[in-house]
This record gives sequence, C-alpha cells and structure tokens, in this order.
Amino acid sequence: MGALGNLTESLTGRRDAVLEGFTESGGLPETLAADKRYTEIEILLREDCSTWSVSPDLARLLARAVIGLGLSNVLEFDAGLSSLVLATSLSRLSGGKLTSVEQNLSWCRDPWKRVSDLVNVDSRIVESKLRLSLSVMGVCYCFRDAAGIGASRGPYDLVLVDAPQGFYGRDGALQMARWHLASRALVVLHDAGRSGERWALFRSLATIRGYRLLFWDPEFGGRGCAILRWCSDRRIRPNLLAVSTSVVQAPRYAGGRRRRHAEIAEWM
Ligand SMILES: C[S@@+](CC[C@H](N)C(=O)[O-])C[C@H]1O[C@@H](n2cnc3c(N)ncnc32)[C@H](O)[C@@H]1O
Repeated sequence: MGALGNLTESLTGRRDAVLEGFTESGGLPETLAADKRYTEIEILLREDCSTWSVSPDLARLLARAVIGLGLSNVLEFDAGLSSLVLATSLSRLSGGKLTSVEQNLSWCRDPWKRVSDLVNVDSRIVESKLRLSLSVMGVCYCFRDAAGIGASRGPYDLVLVDAPQGFYGRDGALQMARWHLASRALVVLHDAGRSGERWALFRSLATIRGYRLLFWDPEFGGRGCAILRWCSDRRIRPNLLAVSTSVVQAPRYAGGRRRRHAEIAEWM
C-alpha cells in the first residue's frame, strides 16, 4: 500500500473510531428497536421497491418512528417509496405534514401522486438543484432552493436524509436540517455504511454540537443507518479534519457529477 493508501486508511480508521465514540449511551428508543410491522407498509414494500428506494428495514423503522413515537411533522431529502411509507404512516396516525426536497420531480411523479391523494396528510414537494456551497462543515452540495419552504413548514420532529446521490455527499442535507428541527427531533441517515455517508456523519457530529448519535449500524438493512437526536444546541465547533476532508472530496464531487450526467443521458 502506498503512502496515500496508508493515509486514507488511517483517516477512515480514526473517523470510524470517533463515530463509535459518539454513540449516546441511551441507545435506540424501544419502539424503534422492536420488529413491529404494519400491514399497509408491508403491502407498499411488496409493490413499490426500486433500486433507488430506501431499504425495507429502513422503511419499517420510519413507520415505527411515525406511528410508534407519534412524530407528525416530517422532512425528507428525496422523494419516492420513502414518501409513500412516511405519508401512509402519517395517514394512519390521523394525519400530519410531509415536506419533501427533491432533485428532479420526474423521478418521483408516481409515488408523489399517491402521496398527494392522501387527504389527511398535508404534503408538499419542492424541486431543488444542488449548489456547491461553503458551510460550517466545509465544502458541500446544498439544496439551497429549498431553504424557504424548509423553514416555513418546520420545525420538524423527523427528518430522513436519503439524498443527494452518494457522491455529492449528504453533508448539505444534514447541515440544512439543523435549522428546522424541533427539540429532540430524530434525523435518520440512510446508507450510513458507505464511506461518503460516514464522512458526512462524522463531519456533522464533529461540527454541530446539537447533534447526538443515537444509533449507527453500518450493516442495517444491508446499507446502513444512523439516527441522530437534536438537542437544540446550535453552537458550532470548527473541526480541521472535517473541513480538510470535505475540501479533498470536492474534486470527487465534480467527477461524480460528470459521471452522473453521463448515466442519466444513457437512461433517457
Ligand atoms: C437514494 S434515492 C431516494 C429515493 C427515495 N427516498 C425513496 O425511498 O425512493 C435518491 C437519489 O437517487 C437518484 N434517483 C432516484 N430516482 C432516480 C431515477 N429515476 N433516475 C435517476 N436517478 C434517480 C437520485 O440521484 C436521487 O438523488
């Protein structure tokens, strides 16, 4: 292994050790840890899964969060099956609010149509492009077009971060969410087993004092999941490793964007 390989290994090892150290001793609320399933959600999982969708285990966990914990104002980053799961759960809970930030509305037209048919759920979707921005966590892609609507419908008691696409990094969504959270809100990060998501998680926890890591399982549902709790502390703790790794990742983001456009052109 070359010097760069050794450095990467040492940094990722340090990151993972820090993530383990961040876990709050209280752990996952019992309601989320239980294997409770809901018939309406199991039907959706049989019919509507795609390669882009949240994992079935994460879908079940989201339903338990909404129905079991009674969380009723939800923000999600990127719509699709997750929107249907969240809205169906809210509907069963006798209603609630779902706000979705989506990169491209054409990617989720069908599930969103079904979400908007649920009369007791106040649902709203906003399309937002990603913009490379400077943030307290370093350089990251942000859904800046969504800031207004995000603010107007908060504070949220549950946030799902399932976007943007891995190589853009999920830092932007995690740092945007913190402005609009109710006290003790839960923030669920999908795909938290992947390296980019681990870095986003590390940078959020290292920088934003109000985030506490309740749960992190890199194997959960085959793709990993992390759950943060918001404890209403907006103070920032600048972190050199967070900023420097975000800057190193920027060329990767740009390369990823080019690859992404090529992939989309292929599908069209
Ligand atoms: C991980 S998916 C999340 C979808 C949603 N939360 C769900 O459970 O269905 C989000 C990312 O997948 C990609 N994506 C989703 N649907 C797509 C499509 N039809 N074509 C291309 N990319 C898509 C986009 O990059 C988007 O940012």
